[in-house]
Amino acid sequence: MMPGEVENPSRSAASQGAPSASNSRRIMLLTRKAEFSASHVCLNPALSAEENQAIYGANANPQGHGHNFVVEVTLEGEPDPVTGMVFDLRELKEIINAEVVEPMDHRFLNREIPHFANVVPTTENLAREIWRRIALRVGAPHAHARPRANNVRLKNVRLYETADLYVDCTAADFAEEQ
Ligand code: NI
Repeated sequence: MMPGEVENPSRSAASQGAPSASNSRRIMLLTRKAEFSASHVCLNPALSAEENQAIYGANANPQGHGHNFVVEVTLEGEPDPVTGMVFDLRELKEIINAEVVEPMDHRFLNREIPHFANVVPTTENLAREIWRRIALRVGAPHAHARPRANNVRLKNVRLYETADLYVDCTAADFAEEQ
């Protein structure tokens, strides 16, 4: 601004990031998809073989079976006023690769992901584990969240076990841990 120029008060408020009703309408959702193939056995060791067979059917076969999982990670936030992005796209890809694809692709989840040594790796529980891993990295309403300048947070983890079946995991699933 040139000396003597009168600043537009509404522009000034906006440039300072003052809270206003319009800010809430700028929230946008950003989703990145990734695929990985993994095998698992769905059985609860606390139950008998017969009970597991009754509950999980062929999914309880101890030899395991595989799925081509598809995960969709959705972040929520205001596009950064400088970059126009809710979150750096390359960083999001790197996080999903590091936390999900690299450790889980072509793995036997029960044996190779420590979390599933004592947790049945159903699609629901796998979605929760993926949420937990990604929330640690992007910031979320979660105990270990790392805040970002534009309040970006993990909004949803959708995990497809097949094209016809998916699970959604949201912050509400962790309400008891906050
Ligand atoms: Ni399965």
